[in-house]
Amino acid sequence: MKRHLLSINDLTYDDAVLILDTAAELAKISDAPVKKLPTLRGRTVVNLFFEDSTRTRISFEAAAKRLSADVINFSAKGSSLSKGESLKDTALTLQAMGADAVIIRHNASGAPARLADQQWMTGSVINAGDGTHEHPTQALLDAFTIRKHLRPENKDLTGVKVSIVGDVLHSRVARSNVLLLGKLGAEITLVAPPTLLPVGVEKWPVKIAFGLDAVIADSDVVMMLRIQRERMAELFFPSEREYSRQFGLNSDRLRKIKPTALVMHPGPMNRGLEISADSADSLQSVIVEQVTNGVSVRMAVLYLLLGGAPLAAGANVESNEKVGM
Ligand code: NCD
Repeated sequence: MKRHLLSINDLTYDDAVLILDTAAELAKISDAPVKKLPTLRGRTVVNLFFEDSTRTRISFEAAAKRLSADVINFSAKGSSLSKGESLKDTALTLQAMGADAVIIRHNASGAPARLADQQWMTGSVINAGDGTHEHPTQALLDAFTIRKHLRPENKDLTGVKVSIVGDVLHSRVARSNVLLLGKLGAEITLVAPPTLLPVGVEKWPVKIAFGLDAVIADSDVVMMLRIQRERMAELFFPSEREYSRQFGLNSDRLRKIKPTALVMHPGPMNRGLEISADSADSLQSVIVEQVTNGVSVRMAVLYLLLGGAPLAAGANVESNEKVGM
């Protein structure tokens, strides 16, 4: 496995399966009364967030803490320094503090790669979302969730039909998922108006559909994307009503999905725009579970990149017994 996780392209097929398998082991810790392993004791993990985040930052923090690492949260939003300089100075500071891993979210695509490539720091760099480029740990937690439900006995997602619906143009989640789910054998269809598809999408290994009705009944996974208004300087569709009518998941469409199909969304949701409240809260929705699985997957990534002490079988059980649980 490479030292950094900047893109899904950093992972081989075997690396990706190893992360999912390790996450499945680590998920058992999250179900135990004492949610802690000593594996990364004495290591320092820095959360460096230049952009807003709720679940990703908290999820990485919980993951690092469950492995006993020290966590420093550095919310860099609002810095007035130019991007290159601020990133370099920040990196040198983090290096001086002995950071073993830096988890970075930045509104500029490529910022994590810059941090890694310049060799300002010796630790691992993990991309927690860069601009419209990639969000590899989100794709890993999505793959984990899909595998758990639809391929519990298999190693990969061969033959799983995944529809990724909505604002693909601005979505780093969509890019990482196309790469990862494709690597694991899933058949992907992007469903979006032409204005919300990236230039060059015809070269991606995906099918394209211009309305949700065309794919809804045949999908094993319906992955809804948030309309990213903060990245839109102009209008990309005539009106929100019009968008919802063609691309929104609502109760009528929910009735048409396969009984085994999963409804997913990376969050945060615009309820009533890309997804109706009853779809988001339906029995087929795994949206809340995605958040839970995110912690296990991020534990696996930290563990594998930082080369933590071996996962002693029953270590957690013993510590639980010591505290009388
Ligand atoms: C996504 C992100 O930030 O890229 N959210 C997340 O990490 N849970 C998707 C989004 O913001 O729409």
